[in-house]
Amino acid sequence: MSKIRILPEILSNKIAAGEVVERPASVVKELVENAIDADSTRIMVEIEQGGRKLIRVSDNGHGMGRDDALLSLERYATSKINKDPDLFAIRTLGFRGEALPSIASVSRFTLVTREINDDVGARIEMAGGRINNVSETGAPIGTMITVSSIFYNTPARRKFLKSINTEMGHIADTIASMALCRPTIQFRLSHNNRIVKNWAPSADPVDRVTDVLGSSVKKELYAINRSVENLEISGWIASARLNRTTARGIYLFVNGRWVKDRVIQHALFAGYTGRLMKGQYPVAVLFLTVPFDHVDVNVHPTKHEIRFVRQKVVHDTVRDAVEEALKQSDPTRWQPSVLDHCDPVSQSLHLSEPWTPFNSSPPAKDRNSREAFRQPVEPSPLKPEHEAFEPGAGESTLPGESTKAPQKESVTQSESSHRQTPLWKPRFFADLLVIGQYKGTYIICESEKGLILIDQHAAHERIVFEQLKNQSAEHRPPAQHLLLPETIDLGFREAQILEILAPELDLYGLEIEPFGGNTFVVKTVPSVLDSGSISAIVSQIVEKTAEIGVDAEMSALMDECLMVMACHNAIRAHQRLTDDQIKTMLKQLDRCDNPSHCPHGRPIWIQWAVKDLEKQFHRIV
Ligand SMILES: Nc1ncnc2c1ncn2[C@@H]1O[C@H](COP(=O)(O)OP(=O)(O)O)[C@@H](O)[C@H]1O
Ligand SMILES: [Mg+2]
Repeated sequence: MSKIRILPEILSNKIAAGEVVERPASVVKELVENAIDADSTRIMVEIEQGGRKLIRVSDNGHGMGRDDALLSLERYATSKINKDPDLFAIRTLGFRGEALPSIASVSRFTLVTREINDDVGARIEMAGGRINNVSETGAPIGTMITVSSIFYNTPARRKFLKSINTEMGHIADTIASMALCRPTIQFRLSHNNRIVKNWAPSADPVDRVTDVLGSSVKKELYAINRSVENLEISGWIASARLNRTTARGIYLFVNGRWVKDRVIQHALFAGYTGRLMKGQYPVAVLFLTVPFDHVDVNVHPTKHEIRFVRQKVVHDTVRDAVEEALKQSDPTRWQPSVLDHCDPVSQSLHLSEPWTPFNSSPPAKDRNSREAFRQPVEPSPLKPEHEAFEPGAGESTLPGESTKAPQKESVTQSESSHRQTPLWKPRFFADLLVIGQYKGTYIICESEKGLILIDQHAAHERIVFEQLKNQSAEHRPPAQHLLLPETIDLGFREAQILEILAPELDLYGLEIEPFGGNTFVVKTVPSVLDSGSISAIVSQIVEKTAEIGVDAEMSALMDECLMVMACHNAIRAHQRLTDDQIKTMLKQLDRCDNPSHCPHGRPIWIQWAVKDLEKQFHRIV
């Protein structure tokens, strides 16, 4: 007799439930997805005891007739796809036709639904996947599914349920993610008969974002909008200041589906490079739209994972969009952001908004200079200010820094030039009034808006890092030949690493040649570096690379190497600086692409707004 048997449907549904229904939040996700696919505009989710006792999702979507309702509980029954090619161009959230039978197989399950053309609704009651009762019932148009005693017949699963708070947290996250992506739908979540969240429909997606993420993030959110070929990216990212310690503030959507995608997440982090420290996570809500046949959503039963056909394009586009948004929104940047396609009225409105480096209005002279930008773009009105940036003879030199001409300051043109007029780098730091140095470590400055403390080491590290990086991006930077080439002896493994790095380091003006065995000789060092510490720098570069792994992307490795160089050559804490040195440093900071974070992601400056100080002194309430 044959040993192989086809499993009874109830058992195979239970097996499917093992993948689809991990916890109450997975039930909520599947039911809310169905409600969205049914074009609902109002979705209510009621929970009792973290979902252990009850999960009920009611919607006002198109509902089902009695026959469809019965069919929907069969495995692989779906209205969303029906032929082969459909599977490769999925437009709906559901398509596998297994959620309802899976959920019904591990719970007590009641479905009440009514279609617009029917006078009465249908009610189907099930337990453990078996239909116990089918009846007619009065019901509003739409669908209501009640799942009680989840996992009552799969005790092993039930044991894995966590505390009510934990399960409720997962449910709230699930609803939040759905709500973020569908701002025009009303979502209501209640727990033990108390309303936890009620998100009203909103025409402006940013309202939903602030509803979900909290209104405090609103002023730190920066919009993203970019389209490359047939990939569109929109959404909001928050300033690096708002970082979190987990990925819970990251919401990624592809074609309206909430996904956990490593490609996008990696690209997001890459866009934040240099702004976050290890262990910090950004807050971001990103919506990607790609042609339906450019993404495979049939990777896992939970449909959270996806695969892009053009993974690299997606990655690089997300990274660039994030990087650009952060650069342009840095509070030390003056951002005209004049949209070319805006009508003249909104343009002038935009321009008359106060300049907001610290959420307050600009000093008068910035307003004046801004007026100049309203004229057709011409370099002339800018020239005097512009020239002030050029390294003049009067600029003093910081310790460990060469006198060679820094990179020429240029008027930067936004990449998406069809949208934005050029951005000028402002004299944000150069215009600060320097009060003094505290503990030989922090520079205390005054701006119109408040008191600013600058970490001198972090600031100078950033300056040297960008000098090294930018020069090599254009050409090999000036390098100094060592009168006495320095030899370095390394271990076997380290020597191998240095051999891989040497040709790349050469592009940055650090020329190192093998000298037989594990010995190397350093011939030139970048001019900005102090040649005295070159052995230590090279050893540390090799160590860092070993830690990261030589297989990492070369550009990332080089960034780490430049960080080592920058750190060695930056002025230290507890080092007294002259007024001129401080001023030079502030001017140089203005030229940096990211003057707010050191290359490791630590903040360079912090500030206390006048208002906050006055509050603390109870001058105002
Ligand atoms: N809330 C709902 N409103 C209207 N129809 C629904 C609803 N939930 C489920 N359905 C119908 O039941 C079918 C099966 O649902 P499900 O098991 O989740 O599979 P899928 O969503 O993958 O198609 C759906 O294709 C849809 O036609
Ligand atoms: Mg479904």
